[in-house]
Amino acid sequence: MSADGDPFHTGELSVIGRITTASNLTLVCEVGDGGERVVYKPVRGERPLWDFPDGTLAGREVASYLVSRALGWAVIPETILRDGPLGAGMVQRWIESVDSADPARLDLVDLVPVGAVPDGFREVLRAVDGSGAEVALVHADDPRLRRMAVLDVLLNNADRKGGHALEGADGGVYGVDHGICLHSEPKLRTVLWGWAGEPVAEELLADVAEFVKTLPGEVGDDLAEHLTDAEIEALGRRGRRLLDDPVMPLPVSARPIPWPAF
Ligand SMILES: Nc1ncnc2c1ncn2[C@@H]1O[C@H](COP(=O)(O)OP(=O)(O)O)[C@@H](O)[C@H]1O
Ligand SMILES: [Mg+2]
Repeated sequence: MSADGDPFHTGELSVIGRITTASNLTLVCEVGDGGERVVYKPVRGERPLWDFPDGTLAGREVASYLVSRALGWAVIPETILRDGPLGAGMVQRWIESVDSADPARLDLVDLVPVGAVPDGFREVLRAVDGSGAEVALVHADDPRLRRMAVLDVLLNNADRKGGHALEGADGGVYGVDHGICLHSEPKLRTVLWGWAGEPVAEELLADVAEFVKTLPGEVGDDLAEHLTDAEIEALGRRGRRLLDDPVMPLPVSARPIPWPAF
């Protein structure tokens, strides 16, 4: 469908709820007559951040989507800048999460008792929960999530929490909330450290190589609407570094994990 005919681009947004845990204004809306669900974050609802003075968080969300799309990875649901009832903002397609009827089934990122890390999961850190019990923060050892972790390295994502990795009912794994990505200085903060120091898969590197080649052209031009030139150059540098040294980075900053972690 053409952009103009798709209500996602031009249909009227009706607010159906607010995501109350969100620090910025994050609204769930329905769009057009079909009632497709979307997330809408008006620029007006953004709390200014001293360490991200340039552009807007909404613009960074769109730029992150453009990077994911250019890589051919479809990790980030389609995200655009458009008008809405509270002015211009980012609008993102809603991901229907897997219906987890089984309470024992772990999320992609979850907490388990220490010493009880199940097969297919990797432990990231240990902490003490509200009742004083020692718990381990774990994430799935899943190629779809691993690809998201590589995307985060490229995006320099400063906020990959557990709640920002969604397991879609359609079998995909999706990342959301990319408002504080793509800074030119290192800021990677994530719960997905389980692969640190391990090689990056060949097929992902091939996509990164292609991306780095196309960045100075059309992709870069599109990104320039949302990012500074220095930020686009830094993105290219991160891509080339991954190709030169194809290993998942180790945490370097004093605060490598976003808090709260979910
Ligand atoms: N596109 C989406 N599809 C489904 N759920 C989403 C989507 N975007 C956000 N959410 C849900 O809403 C929560 C809050 O959204 P988020 O983008 O993290 O907002 P904020 O920037 O205010 O933290 C997320 O943790 C996730 O559970
Ligand atoms: Mg969030």
